[in-house]
Amino acid sequence: MDKDQLRLVVERTGNLPTLPATVSRIEAMIDSPETTGRQLGLEIAKDQVISAKVLKLVNSGFYGFTRPIGTIPHAVTLLGFNAIKSLVLSASVLDLMNEALPGLWEHSLGCARACSFIAQLLELPDPEELSTVGLLHDLGKVVVYQTMEGAFRRVRQRVEELDILVYQAEQDVLGTDHGEIGSWLLEKWALPRQVTEPIADHHDFRPRRDHAERTAVVHLADILCRAEGLGNGGDRRIPRLEPAALEVLEMNLDDVRSVMDRMDAELGDIPRQ
Ligand SMILES: [Fe+2]
Ligand SMILES: [Fe+2]
Repeated sequence: MDKDQLRLVVERTGNLPTLPATVSRIEAMIDSPETTGRQLGLEIAKDQVISAKVLKLVNSGFYGFTRPIGTIPHAVTLLGFNAIKSLVLSASVLDLMNEALPGLWEHSLGCARACSFIAQLLELPDPEELSTVGLLHDLGKVVVYQTMEGAFRRVRQRVEELDILVYQAEQDVLGTDHGEIGSWLLEKWALPRQVTEPIADHHDFRPRRDHAERTAVVHLADILCRAEGLGNGGDRRIPRLEPAALEVLEMNLDDVRSVMDRMDAELGDIPRQ
């Protein structure tokens, strides 16, 4: 199967098979210019499972709110439509992540938090959206698990036998990696390019792309989570840090160390390998 055919398979699957109907309803509401924050909040609140997960995520610390947020409408007002859309999606793939790969959820949450630490250190715009990118960066692993059973098994086998990284095994088996595959699904969900491009490129950093700065953030955050042993990315190796990513961010090794110190201090609640 070539890449175009693969993309068709992912797009045809559309929403992952197990995504609840609420997700598509909320998606349609967000896309309609007539929807108000209040209506959206009420609609999300109707689904108690999703609401509980969204609130858990909002309060899990990566948005850095000092006071707990108790209701969905409040979360919508604070975060805006796009962040809520990503949160609803994240909340609904939460269980799937660990089903595909035990520890992937913790890895993703760690990455979301690390993205926000980097964003704060560098005073980058839109730290909330960057957290979301971190949360969803490995979504493609779930897509492969859910839509390409045979390929998923072959990838796992290669990782085990050759002791290589998941994305390298995916390149061998599928001709692309989970970054790009995840971005196809997110593009179908109409998430903006500044979210999808960093996810597509997080293992293939290219300094001249439109959103290279954000890609560099998630590239670094992912590697730091692996180095810290937060959750599980599905292989035993740590991807190589692309020096150009640090250059784009104008970060030196002391800056990296200060992000790691913050991860040590504040991510004690995330299980380590
Ligand atoms: Fe990845
Ligand atoms: Fe990752």
